[in-house]
Amino acid sequence: MEIPMLDLKREYLYLKSKIDHHLQVVLEHQNWIMGPEVKELENKVASYIGTRFALGVASGTDALVLSLRAVAFQRTGKDLFNPEDEIITTPFTFAATAEAILRTGATPVFVDINPATFNIDPAKVVAAISPRTVGIIPVHLYGLPCPMDRLKAIAEEHNLFIVEDVAQAFGAEYAGKKCGAWGDAAAFSFFPSKNLAGFGDGGMVTTDDPIIAGFVDILRRHGGRDKYNIDYRGYNSRLDTIQAAVLLAKFTALDEFNERRRKIAAQYQMRLNHIKDITLPFTPPNSTPVFHQFTIRHPERDRLKAWLKKCGIASMVYYPIPLHQMKLFAGKSRIATALIHAEKAAAEVLSLPIEPLLTPDEIACVTERIKEFASARTTVNV
Ligand SMILES: Cc1ncc(COP(=O)(O)O)c(C=O)c1O
Repeated sequence: MEIPMLDLKREYLYLKSKIDHHLQVVLEHQNWIMGPEVKELENKVASYIGTRFALGVASGTDALVLSLRAVAFQRTGKDLFNPEDEIITTPFTFAATAEAILRTGATPVFVDINPATFNIDPAKVVAAISPRTVGIIPVHLYGLPCPMDRLKAIAEEHNLFIVEDVAQAFGAEYAGKKCGAWGDAAAFSFFPSKNLAGFGDGGMVTTDDPIIAGFVDILRRHGGRDKYNIDYRGYNSRLDTIQAAVLLAKFTALDEFNERRRKIAAQYQMRLNHIKDITLPFTPPNSTPVFHQFTIRHPERDRLKAWLKKCGIASMVYYPIPLHQMKLFAGKSRIATALIHAEKAAAEVLSLPIEPLLTPDEIACVTERIKEFASARTTVNV
């Protein structure tokens, strides 16, 4: 049996009639830029997440960059940070999180993760705060929520902003409140592999703040209130109408798909429990995860990955290199605490297939092959 990480065709066929219908409407009205589907999606996302505003942009990366610049504008009147401004984040994430900090002029400050949840450790955030700190970017990695009550309390005590990176956690909740409704602003990605995914790039910013929302709106339209009279260095960063149409169709299945992911995760947890050397993901208390990834740890991760590949099962390493070890951030970031848990995670993590339409047979196949590896580790030739 061949099991890919993600079978987007299967998902498309499951939702085909809805997606085709929404696409057909766009083909007929031909309103490609900021068409009615964009506004409809923004309204739906704002009410689902529980924020006053939601603004479609061209990617999750742009959602981070535009959120950060809008927060800078709201807090200082300037539309960029200075290199003296420090923003605390995790080194165990996709590079876009900290790349966005650099692009807005600030300095990323890396602190270690909680090894159980893979997410930023609030105690390490406190240890990293300096007079230069202006904000925090927590990343709800793999769809597992960060402890937002603690992070929010820290931010309030030290007058810091929070921009949530919700790229991997559309629909996740912490303490009964959606991820993306906790910070000053939040950035979502609609990259094709995400829980809510388009047929290409796309992203969204959510916020309760009218100044932040207004400035994101300006920045995504080249930086001017008037298209032909520009005030700020902006971007062409609108969400395409056609992507919004796909996303509207897929949005109807988001809760169902997230529930399916939780059920698959429960199956994996049950079947892989107590297997030698396998550490299973830990669901943070008080939270509803959405398992963008189901990520296990194994001390011989590369051998396990090779074994699964030999058995026709795809798996992925998210992420093999923590950000502080990347050339991009050398000399442009500050390492505030030892990053041993992030480094260890990078060496041990392995994400298993967890698309919502994975079948019971496929789940059984993945877990049986892992059990074979665990029971015959020395003899399995990979
Ligand atoms: C944690 C995280 N942040 C940011 C991004 C950037 O999103 P995009 O690829 O839509 O620009 C991604 C996704 O790829 C991500 O996983």
